[in-house]
Amino acid sequence: MRETFPNRVYQRSNRAHELTPEERAVYDALDPARMPQHIAIIMDGNGRWAGKRSLKRFLGHQQGAECVQYVVETASRIDLPWITLYAFSLENNLRRPRNEVNFLMKLLRNYLVSNVKRMNDNNIRVAYIGRTHELPQEVQETMQWASEQTARNTGTTLTLALNYGARSEIVDAARALIHNLILEAHQRGISVEDMLAAEGVDDAIKNRIDEPQLDAHLYTAQMPDPDLVIRTSGEQRISNFLLWQIAYAEIFVTDRLWPDFRGIHLLEAITDYQQRERRFGGLGDSSDEAFADTLPSALDVPVELLPR
Ligand code: FPP
Repeated sequence: MRETFPNRVYQRSNRAHELTPEERAVYDALDPARMPQHIAIIMDGNGRWAGKRSLKRFLGHQQGAECVQYVVETASRIDLPWITLYAFSLENNLRRPRNEVNFLMKLLRNYLVSNVKRMNDNNIRVAYIGRTHELPQEVQETMQWASEQTARNTGTTLTLALNYGARSEIVDAARALIHNLILEAHQRGISVEDMLAAEGVDDAIKNRIDEPQLDAHLYTAQMPDPDLVIRTSGEQRISNFLLWQIAYAEIFVTDRLWPDFRGIHLLEAITDYQQRERRFGGLGDSSDEAFADTLPSALDVPVELLPR
């Protein structure tokens, strides 16, 4: 769907020697021709990780924040262009106790402040998606600072989904399209109604609102759709994450809780991904191509209707 992001030809990373020996063994067995360009992760299980150790939930989040950097650095060592992490959902913001939300905000700021240098050392750029303008002012300032500090990096883009919900993202995109429509009419000095009527209302709407244009107004307009979504802690849910963008993504669910997730597990998820046959609604490589030739003509097939 995103024609602006043709599959780049993957070259083996020249930073593979920075992987641990275990990671290196998994990486070397991967097929360079089938590397994902974009991996999105639903980081889940911080609370359970803490609960299993009779620790307070916030310690699970703290450990979870540490893992973010390990995993992102492995991603950068294998030259993965895009990694997107679901760090804080709109629903987390609305439904979690205030003290937990405040703690997560502190953790985020702390994570950014303490890791910008490492991001620069690893050529990682940080970006954000979500209704970030609703986050506390000091959090927004730190976010802005971190994205400016890392803006010139050209390796992996780490996108943090913050105060993010996929349905509200689609709503925001629809609103932006309507705003553009009003702006266009204003610039032409006519009413929206007259502008649409001049082209025929149905055609005018079809021309202005279609999949590529809605796509271009999503927060993710500048990135390719994820090839692989990983969810930790075993839940088989998408939880309002990138609903539009993952239409054809492969999904990998692991029972491992997020605070136990490391670079090696990212590489194992890629190994699993490479076993999948991606079809994008088509037939895929292993389909029987002779099938079409052997089909009897539609008229030769007896159609037996079941009695009602
Ligand atoms: C789910 O754990 C995870 C979150 C609420 C968000 C993820 C947050 C982090 C990994 C830490 C902060 C991130 C950054 C980027 C600094 P949960 O509390 O839902 O776990 P549970 O389902 O076991 O209770």
